[in-house]
Amino acid sequence: MTQISINPVTRIEGHAQVLIDLDSTGNVQKAHFKVVELRGFEKFLVGAAVEEAPRITPRICGICPTSHHVASAMALDQIYGVEPPPTGKALRELLMLGQYIHSHALHFFMLAAPDYLIGHEASRGERNVLGLVKVNPDLAKKAIEVRKTGQRITEAVGGKPIHPATAVPGGMSHHLDDAHKSALYDMVKGSLAIARDGWAIARELMEKTDITFATITTGFMGLSNQGTFSFQDGSVQVIGADRTAIGSFRGTEYLNYIEEYSEAWSYLKFCRRIGGEYYRVGPLARLNLVNRMGTPSADEALKEYRAKFGEFVQSTLAYNIARYIEFLWACERALQLLGDPIVTGDKTRIAVDTVKNRRGVGIIEAPRGTLIHDYTVSEGGIIEKCNLIVATCQNNYAIDRGVEQIARGVVANGTLTESGTNRIEMAIRAYDPCLSCATHALGQMPLRIQINQNLEECRR
Ligand code: MG
Ligand code: NI
Repeated sequence: MTQISINPVTRIEGHAQVLIDLDSTGNVQKAHFKVVELRGFEKFLVGAAVEEAPRITPRICGICPTSHHVASAMALDQIYGVEPPPTGKALRELLMLGQYIHSHALHFFMLAAPDYLIGHEASRGERNVLGLVKVNPDLAKKAIEVRKTGQRITEAVGGKPIHPATAVPGGMSHHLDDAHKSALYDMVKGSLAIARDGWAIARELMEKTDITFATITTGFMGLSNQGTFSFQDGSVQVIGADRTAIGSFRGTEYLNYIEEYSEAWSYLKFCRRIGGEYYRVGPLARLNLVNRMGTPSADEALKEYRAKFGEFVQSTLAYNIARYIEFLWACERALQLLGDPIVTGDKTRIAVDTVKNRRGVGIIEAPRGTLIHDYTVSEGGIIEKCNLIVATCQNNYAIDRGVEQIARGVVANGTLTESGTNRIEMAIRAYDPCLSCATHALGQMPLRIQINQNLEECRR
């Protein structure tokens, strides 16, 4: 048996392996996306006081801490039977916008763009963010500036630059003062100008996008607020692969629509619709579900996106462009919100008292897709049961199938070239998978691509 390991592989969030099994003629028999990290937080949380959950769950991940923090606080609102006041809600939204700006800019400019701007045929040594600094120093500088804006929002609204701590049951613990608000306003204004200019680059990538690359036909799921893009209001829409509406839900009803399941070879769970159909979440799904973004530049960009890809998009690489449109939207929406006196209001929280409901489900659209925190607690507020469903588990099947499809095309006579490796990575990278979130990771292991040759002979 021949094994080829490619190590380390860059530009995804976390660590995984690709396993390619070859038949005796050196052709791909099957390929899988395998995640080898340990799961944990669903179990760690049992026995914890539920009010601690918004401070514990951001530790799942250094990339998506805000999404866990806010989804957790939303579940707690239900457990304590409170609705945050308008300022508390607006501050949570602003905090999430900081996460969108930071996360989407990081992915688009630093993880995805090198494949297009430097080219996926270029060597690994050049095809990275430092290569980007060389070919387009101005763009690299702007990308760093935009990320900083996201981080400053997290710091000013969330209390800390990485793991926010201010979302509490009933709202937010900290008030935003005028000085911080003005500073953020100026920064976001600068980032919006960059995002608007950057659409020219995203458009160029869109024109170059191979719509047949790693294409898979699935249904989709995501929040929509009566047809307008939203990450916290409205209800979760489920649509089939043929675009028929399957239904919509809030809260605990998610169990009527989706189920998790495991495969023996991966720690990363899979999700499917009850009834068996696969679905995807994240930017591609969300844009398939809405009629409008709700901000001017993002709506213009959405029109161009639909002119290229159509109204209902299955093309995997379109994720990268959909993500850019959401980034543009997040900058516009953050500026709107920072221009509204509501964000500096004094009443950020409703005080909470005792447990009113033994179960709470927080559902939010994280940058990577629908995120569900489902807690069941004792009368005294101790967590008895916890279920987390993250975006990457929901996209796991599509990633896995995309990997196999690309592997079949790029593996010849049992060998995989560097450009072939990168094509496999691009099929994974389009989803911006967060493997720390998906496995509640401990430890570090880079992505490896392993080719197993003559498997039947080995088994004999
Ligand atoms: Mg789970
Ligand atoms: Ni994450």
